[in-house]
Amino acid sequence: MAEYIHGYDPEEQQRLVDQAQYWCDRLLLKNLELEPDAKILDIGCGVGAVLGIISQKFPQLHFAGIDHQPRQIAYAQQYLDQLALDSDLREGDAYVLPWGENTFDFALTVWLLEHVPDTAGIVQEIWRVLKPGGKVCLTETDYQSLVIYPPHPDFDYFQQALCELFSVADGNPYVGRSMGAELERAGFSEVQNTATSFHHWYNPHNQELRGLVNHLDTWIKLMIPLMVEKLGKDGDRSTTALNIFGLSPMIRAVRLPSPFTVPLALNRFTSKSRVALVQFTEPIHEILRFWVIWSKDFLLDGIMKLSAGWLLPCEPCV
Ligand SMILES: C[S@@+](CC[C@H](N)C(=O)[O-])C[C@H]1O[C@@H](n2cnc3c(N)ncnc32)[C@H](O)[C@@H]1O
Repeated sequence: MAEYIHGYDPEEQQRLVDQAQYWCDRLLLKNLELEPDAKILDIGCGVGAVLGIISQKFPQLHFAGIDHQPRQIAYAQQYLDQLALDSDLREGDAYVLPWGENTFDFALTVWLLEHVPDTAGIVQEIWRVLKPGGKVCLTETDYQSLVIYPPHPDFDYFQQALCELFSVADGNPYVGRSMGAELERAGFSEVQNTATSFHHWYNPHNQELRGLVNHLDTWIKLMIPLMVEKLGKDGDRSTTALNIFGLSPMIRAVRLPSPFTVPLALNRFTSKSRVALVQFTEPIHEILRFWVIWSKDFLLDGIMKLSAGWLLPCEPCV
């Protein structure tokens, strides 16, 4: 098994807590509807941060979580205990869930599937442990969805290196694109997707943009040494890319380049029968012509939604 790229340092564990706070209303709780006494399972639960967020809105749920890293589960246990949350936390593999068939009403993954070599095996396990009529919410990503304007070759270089880093670690940086079709292949029905996108442009008072840049800064810069070490990439070029992106302290202290935009599209699928919500990032090209390009599967399905702006010819992304 390839090394998990984020690692399990205490700083990384705290980052997961902060990350869940950041995405709480923007993403994690958005459109989330659950029966008050539902049994929910967070697969790849990490330090329990997402379960903690969900419990703020749905305190009566029965919470379960699994992660294959003992240090994550130890942290999660302590963290959820502090929140006075009764939970069934297990150390184990997402491919072999230690629960019986038809156990849960709701299952979720948050930024798990980008790290695994075979998403289908996990989706099948989710199907097995969900009750008929149960739902799943997959919150995953696409690392090409983050784009800047004006474009810059060093930013493209950095982004490509980031994607390669996930790939050499047996993950999939584009996993979000594939999940709708994969859920249907696994037998899930009524899979739906709702796109939400973030599109920020620079002005000195844009706190949303500042918040997003600061949030991404907490982990993205840590990837540069790994790009150098594992891929032999040019660290200086990648650092330049982050400066352009506005992540370096120096640039941040001055100001972000103007015009500066960071669009991010989040797609959420919903369905009624056994599968529900999938949300993930999708690539957006042409920032000023702001819209979402859907993956081939969704284009074929004829499900194309325009976030804003005007229509351009679009190509399937994979
Ligand atoms: C990026 S973290 C996300 C954690 C959590 N979902 C969150 O959003 O805070 C990914 C987690 O997946 C776990 N993980 C990766 N592969 C796994 C597997 N095959 N089975 C169980 N957990 C896994 C890692 O240990 C890590 O804690």
